[in-house]
Amino acid sequence: MTPRLSEAEFELFSQLINEHVGISFSRTKKGALQRKLTSRLSHLGFESYSAYYQYLVHDKKGGLELRQLINTITVDQTSFFRHAKQFEHLANIILPQIAAHKQTIKKLRIWSAGCSRGQEAYSVAMVVNEVFEGDASWDIKILASDIDTDALKFAYKGLYPVHGVEQVPLEYLNKYFTEGTGGEEGFYLAGEELRNNLLFRRLNFMDPEFPFKSPVDIIFCRNVMIYFDPEVKRKLIDNFFRVLERDGFLCLGASESLIGVDNRFSLVGHAIYQKKG
Ligand SMILES: C[S@@+](CC[C@H](N)C(=O)[O-])C[C@H]1O[C@@H](n2cnc3c(N)ncnc32)[C@H](O)[C@@H]1O
Repeated sequence: MTPRLSEAEFELFSQLINEHVGISFSRTKKGALQRKLTSRLSHLGFESYSAYYQYLVHDKKGGLELRQLINTITVDQTSFFRHAKQFEHLANIILPQIAAHKQTIKKLRIWSAGCSRGQEAYSVAMVVNEVFEGDASWDIKILASDIDTDALKFAYKGLYPVHGVEQVPLEYLNKYFTEGTGGEEGFYLAGEELRNNLLFRRLNFMDPEFPFKSPVDIIFCRNVMIYFDPEVKRKLIDNFFRVLERDGFLCLGASESLIGVDNRFSLVGHAIYQKKG
């Protein structure tokens, strides 16, 4: 029988999670947190939430269980070419504009921040490949980061079931993926052309600074900040502003907005914001 999460226990866990990952559980139902905690409790054989809490905060394995808990509480819902209009804008306007501006430097940096299982980053890689046509004179890097190590492992593998690649245009599917055989039948594997420029890293948005050597041209941070409280969101946008190139772009989720939140960006369409130069 699963114990009931008391108000005091709920406060303790939601504070701990909020401090480490910025996710605000006060917005969602207490039941959702209880279900996620219960799965960890039964996995580890704890009979009370307080015993599990003590184990978490005095973790002798260097925070391994906290990572596991974070993997359990994050929402990894995503898909290829999610919010398709943004990818059209990327292909038809943003990338050609950057290609023209940077034709002497020939350096492009893109960050899929909160990449989940990788579909966003591979979608970006396909569009970049189409626009730059594999031009080797360009130094192109796409960083795909997330806090969830299970999602990142999945992303790195790049193996997606048939029903998961439905949003990929057939022409791109044939060009950039290989069909699995044997044990991988019914799956599609992202090909080398996409992986060449892609880097996968664990990165927590709560880190005080982001480890970038060069400014970033485009950041995709979509459907991530909806889980954060306004203060965490404000700090994150501030950090994005700092790492972005002059005139750089910040792409948000379809339901997200910077209007009334940060006036250092202008809206260019489809929840895409440009840093004011
Ligand atoms: C709903 S998914 C969004 C995936 C993708 N950007 C999209 O729009 O389809 C949200 C992702 O944000 C990640 N996330 C949540 N809190 C984070 C944090 N503090 N640092 C880094 N990533 C975080 C989650 O692990 C999850 O994979």
